[in-house]
Amino acid sequence: MEKTHQETYPLYIPLYYILYLKYRKVKRQSATRKMERLARKIGPVGFVPEGEGQWTVEVEGEIPNPTEHINRSALWMDEDLALSEIQEIIAGIEATKKKLDAKDLRYTSTAASFIPRMYTEYSEKKNSWENAWCFRHADIQKGQNILDIGGASTAFNFFLADKGCSVTSIDNDWGNCGIVYNMNYVGQKMGWECRAIDRDAGQPLPFPDNHFERIFSICVIEHLTSPDRQNLMRELGRVLKPGGIAAFSTDYDNDREVLVFDKGLRFGYREKFFHDVVDPSGLRLHGNTTLVDAYPLKNFLGAFFLRKD
Ligand SMILES: C[S@@+](CC[C@H](N)C(=O)[O-])C[C@H]1O[C@@H](n2cnc3c(N)ncnc32)[C@H](O)[C@@H]1O
Repeated sequence: MEKTHQETYPLYIPLYYILYLKYRKVKRQSATRKMERLARKIGPVGFVPEGEGQWTVEVEGEIPNPTEHINRSALWMDEDLALSEIQEIIAGIEATKKKLDAKDLRYTSTAASFIPRMYTEYSEKKNSWENAWCFRHADIQKGQNILDIGGASTAFNFFLADKGCSVTSIDNDWGNCGIVYNMNYVGQKMGWECRAIDRDAGQPLPFPDNHFERIFSICVIEHLTSPDRQNLMRELGRVLKPGGIAAFSTDYDNDREVLVFDKGLRFGYREKFFHDVVDPSGLRLHGNTTLVDAYPLKNFLGAFFLRKD
């Protein structure tokens, strides 16, 4: 599809801001190239050794669906998506999209941009699963104060705001597409309690302790370096209220090499998952503690939930 100005940036984003985004893109790309060169020379930064144990199960053929597991891989995505309660949530998100379309307001595709670059049926299906699964098991109620990490302008966040929650997203707009600006603009136009802050997720969060009842982070933590991920998890543990739930989805993989800015999360081993995510947060796994993976299949997606006692 031919790219037009309108597809790249919503028309209501002012020119000065677009110029700023373009400038930032050039700066970020050159910094990334430098860091990658360095990482090739000195090795990956913040890499967690694999350790002795594994939680991957080496399997061939079918793996039985542990239906009671809320912390689970998306291996059973089709079965989950067929559940009526999941269908209902997806229909709710679609209804929010229609409200935005009617006012010519934008939300992102799975590429975290306004252009349909990665807008494939499969990536949208995966995104529907992770949104609906995380929502379903996070016990969302109207009026809750919700923190999102890395989801500025997603239809999912607008759906939460449309449901009467107060949503704050921390996102550094890595693609420089205007998703932070857009979320704030849409919030104002729709009269929703939602806002986005342009900020790196590895930095301290600008919120007091015990501030949020729920946290979501959909397909983000795998994009952070290991030290940034640990900082973020520490901060999430701090800002989540006691009794609160944090819901995550992430891609994970077993054995690819890690460079600083090629940050796929290597979660193939239980040690890494606890070292990078659960332990720094000080939270505990909500739901099943038996995690099922299915090595040697690749490109997994999974959801997990943490809780503050
Ligand atoms: C794969 S997209 C997922 C977007 C969205 N949560 C969804 O479900 O479609 C990753 C998101 O994380 C954001 N992101 C990546 N690295 C980040 C960082 N270091 N700090 C804050 N946000 C970051 C990107 O801007 C993007 O919005």
